Amino acid sequence: MSAAPLVLALLLQQAPDTRADFMQHEALREEWAQRDVWQEPGRVVEALALRPGQVVADLGAGKGYFSHHLAAAVAPDGRVLALDINEEALRINCEMAALLGAHRIESRVVPPDDPDLAAAEVDVIFLCRRPGAAQGRLL
Ligand SMILES: C[S@@+](CC[C@H](N)C(=O)[O-])C[C@H]1O[C@@H](n2cnc3c(N)ncnc32)[C@H](O)[C@@H]1O
Repeated sequence: MSAAPLVLALLLQQAPDTRADFMQHEALREEWAQRDVWQEPGRVVEALALRPGQVVADLGAGKGYFSHHLAAAVAPDGRVLALDINEEALRINCEMAALLGAHRIESRVVPPDDPDLAAAEVDVIFLCRRPGAAQGRLL
């Protein structure tokens, strides 16, 4: 087989995923734009009085709505540890961070009963709860 059909075959194979990812990113952008209005993340982060260089754990970070806001507040040297039980959510978290130009967000899948944070590892633990979360879940 020559190179051209092989490249085309690979592109066709990858296209549905790429399209689905793009749609998901666009849907999240839309959802997050609405959250910006009612949740006022700027005020939330301001209330935390974060300083550049700090390390923040975003516990139950999900797809990262707050992770990138937190990362901006501790930039340029600080870090956000995006912790979640859901690996897929963290994958999207990383993709959205890249799209939004957010740096120094480190994602970690954690067990549900213990985020396994060393005491000196973080300066602030942030979590954004969802009202009415399923029983037995932290968030
Ligand atoms: C409602 S979402 C909120 C995500 C994000 N904080 C936000 O504001 O968009 C809750 C997240 O918490 C995660 N979660 C639930 N229980 C958890 C636990 N015990 N430890 C870590 N993450 C958890 C879920 O997987 C989900 O991604």
